Amino acid sequence: MQLKNDLLLRTIRGEKTERTPVWLMRQAGRILPEYRAVREKMHGFVELVKNPERAAEVTIQPVDILGVDAAIIFSDILVIPEAMGLPYEMVEKRGPYFPKTVRSAADIDRLKVADISGDLAYTPEAIKVTKRELDGRVPLIGFAGAPWTIFAYMVEGSGSKTFSRPRAMLYQEPEMAHRLLQMITDSTIAYLKAQIAAGADVVQVFDSWAGILSTQQYAEFSLSYIARICDAITEVPVTVFAKGAFTSMPDMNALNCATLGLDWNMDIPQMRALFGEGKVLQGNLDPAALYADKATIKKETRQMLDAFGPYRHIANLGHGVYPDIDPDKAKYFIEEVKEYSAEMRS
Ligand code: CP3
Repeated sequence: MQLKNDLLLRTIRGEKTERTPVWLMRQAGRILPEYRAVREKMHGFVELVKNPERAAEVTIQPVDILGVDAAIIFSDILVIPEAMGLPYEMVEKRGPYFPKTVRSAADIDRLKVADISGDLAYTPEAIKVTKRELDGRVPLIGFAGAPWTIFAYMVEGSGSKTFSRPRAMLYQEPEMAHRLLQMITDSTIAYLKAQIAAGADVVQVFDSWAGILSTQQYAEFSLSYIARICDAITEVPVTVFAKGAFTSMPDMNALNCATLGLDWNMDIPQMRALFGEGKVLQGNLDPAALYADKATIKKETRQMLDAFGPYRHIANLGHGVYPDIDPDKAKYFIEEVKEYSAEMRS
């Protein structure tokens, strides 16, 4: 189907667009009262993720309410561990919790590579419903976690400041770690391909815990698996967002992906110099900037747009939008990107 707004896709192809496209990581979620209303009708987060009609509804909310140039399918990166045999719970105000974790080879033996049509059909189904209801208004982004980030949750069993258990495993049982990472990678490739077959126009890989590994370990235990994913996904453009992976950024030139996400600690001119025309860059306003007054948001947004320049940039925050941000401020950021980036071209 022909998209009415294909700014995101044209930007990813390197075309000179009339303005910069903008969306927000974690836009489908708690900042919107409309999301919370749907969420309250359900028996929990996991149930909402598994309900294609409701998932489609909250996926489209930010398109209608905030005016973003892309939708991102409402789901979670933790559906992969669940389909591999480690179910998760989402504990209110605390985050994910896994009743069972991976601590030994025997624990890995009990896992399987995810069977997408058997256990994860709800995401492709939600994508089909969303595409139908979006009716070509904006492109739809599919996503998955990077194998290292998924591994970190499966071994730790919850969020953590240090993720010391998964990091310990890299030193104590590196071969075991590789076995699990490969199973996650195979599951993720199949999952992303199913999302693409269902209609995802772009896919993004979130490596939220990239920043806690050394450069050497990141290359061995994360980037090598992300590279396999990028090589396997040939149908649509891939975006890789590796939060905190500063020292590994030079290695990302070699990835078979169109776009790299930057967090707000990454220096824009330095990243432009590193990637040249080779990669489209996405990001990277500090999510905390949206706590500021509108004059400050305007100034920060313009500074960011000036630093990236008009083309090969997808405006976004440097990480997911914080849940207590006023949606009005998020909307202001989006409108400011639209207005100023169009002005920049005249
Ligand atoms: O709008 C979107 O971006 C699509 C939806 C989306 C969710 N999670 C919904 C969600 C996406 C892309 C994710 C990705 C995700 N999930 C990541 C990678 C991005 C990042 O922020 O680094 C990670 C690490 C997770 C794991 C996860 N899910 C955590 C740690 C938590 C709890 C903390 C938090 O941010 O809330 C979740 C819960 C979650 N995922 C919520 C939503 C809307 C909130 C729970 C709720 O509504 O009850």
